[in-house]
Amino acid sequence: MAGSFCHLVRSPWFLVVIGLVVVSLPGAVTYDALDPDGKIMIRWDIISWTGDGYTATVNIINTQQYRGIRSYRLGWKWAKKEIIWTMQGAQATEQGDCTRHPTNPPPHSCSLTPAIIDLLPGQPYNLQSANCCRDGVIAAAALDPKNSVSTFQITVGNTGVTNTTINIPQKLTLGSPGPGYTCSALKKVTQTKFPSSDGKRTTQAYVTWNATCQYSQNIAHPAPVCCVSISAFYSPKIVPCPDCACNCPPKSTTPGPHALAGTDQTCIAPNDQQALQNALLKEKKPPSLFCTKDMCPVKIHWHLKENYKQYWRAKMTITNRNLQVNYTNWNLVVQHPNFVNFTRAFSFTEKSLTPYGDIANDTAMFWGVKYYNDMLMQAGPEGNVQSEVLFAKDSTFTLRNGWGFPSHVYFNGDLCILPDPSDYPSLPNGSSKLRGGLALLVCTLVSFAVSLTSLF
Ligand SMILES: *[C@@H]1O[C@H](CO)[C@@H](O)[C@H](O)[C@H]1NC(C)=O
Ligand SMILES: *[C@@H]1O[C@H](CO)[C@@H](O)[C@H](O)[C@H]1NC(C)=O
Ligand SMILES: *[C@@H]1O[C@H](CO)[C@@H](O)[C@H](O)[C@H]1NC(C)=O
Ligand SMILES: *[C@@H]1O[C@H](CO)[C@@H](O)[C@H](O)[C@H]1NC(C)=O
Ligand SMILES: *[C@@H]1O[C@H](CO)[C@@H](O)[C@H](O)[C@H]1NC(C)=O
Ligand SMILES: *[C@@H]1O[C@H](CO)[C@@H](O)[C@H](O)[C@H]1NC(C)=O
Repeated sequence: MAGSFCHLVRSPWFLVVIGLVVVSLPGAVTYDALDPDGKIMIRWDIISWTGDGYTATVNIINTQQYRGIRSYRLGWKWAKKEIIWTMQGAQATEQGDCTRHPTNPPPHSCSLTPAIIDLLPGQPYNLQSANCCRDGVIAAAALDPKNSVSTFQITVGNTGVTNTTINIPQKLTLGSPGPGYTCSALKKVTQTKFPSSDGKRTTQAYVTWNATCQYSQNIAHPAPVCCVSISAFYSPKIVPCPDCACNCPPKSTTPGPHALAGTDQTCIAPNDQQALQNALLKEKKPPSLFCTKDMCPVKIHWHLKENYKQYWRAKMTITNRNLQVNYTNWNLVVQHPNFVNFTRAFSFTEKSLTPYGDIANDTAMFWGVKYYNDMLMQAGPEGNVQSEVLFAKDSTFTLRNGWGFPSHVYFNGDLCILPDPSDYPSLPNGSSKLRGGLALLVCTLVSFAVSLTSLF
């Protein structure tokens, strides 16, 4: 009965247009329409002169609303033969060749191209600085503004001791931990002023340099990393992620790990528990992913769940198919025309983003509730998080024209691949507005079945 009632008609043409835009977007541009001002700023403030150089405070400031850094790595090339005497709140990965500086203690680093990484938490006081020691984690600005800045202090030698002899470091690079950011050159800008804690006095840097680094999904991940599947209460159809959305699955279906073309990774069938246990025990490099038709490490399922008189409800499930990655502080950004009338998320934290100010508030960011579901565990029985979202609606509301489905979805700042909207489950024909009660009754079984299958 549900099958005949929940019978399909073609979706309207404009959804196809939206679909084409979505499909053509992934990684194509560095400009992020949902977060146009988001970037990472690197600010270098020289706060004192030393015998043969200076001490600077370096800030890595993330203004991106929904993209954090898992583990920063800041690199540059010295203009001359500068050395790093000491550091607080971070360290250079290599000491390099210090034979020309045989001091005791020796310099922290003499590398001409130092790479700086954060320290682990719990450092002795003399190694710390403000905003340090988080193992390189820099939070997304909307999610955790206090932790969206990372700071270290660096004492540089073998350079001049006045603002006319020092040279600006060159070729700034920012890894997160892989590539993804392209940085402008550091430039001399107006000196930063530092207010004292009581606000009655300000001090100022002798010299300030700053630069901006812009993210590009193309550079970070040439292939997409997440996809979206879709279902609705009025249809038995589950629209899966597009095949090969992130990579194509291995051809072989024999048990055990399969090599993935174009990567050094392997995948294993999701229900092959025995092979998984064996592989985890025996393989030198354990399988990294569950094998799926879309090969996306992360899947988001959007189920349009219920239609009431004044509200409608959807359920979002994020499934981690990575066998080797726990996502701490994951976040999801969803663009949907009805977020203007967003009501509430039950098990996630929600924040509206207003990329176009007053023109449209159609984008919402979701993240986990602390200590409850803020960690998306590695693939397996606990490798998913979910929440229902409830929206208010007005009298003109209709489930037609794809209203029940998001137009863009980002996981941890990367755009996910959506199915082709022409495949979306369509409303049963003959009803322009589904009447909540009846639809609910008829399709409860369908939606129950869907929620069971949405986990893989
Ligand atoms: C150096 O500092 C002095 C005094 O603060 C300033 O007048 C001068 O413009 C600075 N020169 C350069 C090259 O930054
Ligand atoms: C970098 O300098 C520009 C120009 O002075 C300024 O607008 C911007 O706010 C500065 N960024 C930081 C992080 O201080
Ligand atoms: C993920 O977290 C669980 C529980 O804290 C831990 O047992 C597991 O080793 C972690 N996995 C990875 C890849 O860090
Ligand atoms: C949001 O709700 C208001 C009334 O509550 C209604 O006038 C408006 O059309 C709704 N907007 C959307 C996009 O549904
Ligand atoms: C978007 O949100 C802002 C701030 O909450 C509000 O002032 C503005 O009216 C909203 N715009 C629309 C189109 O709803
Ligand atoms: C529903 O659609 C089918 C096939 O598209 C058509 O044959 C049928 O007449 C339609 N029914 C109504 C009530 O529009």
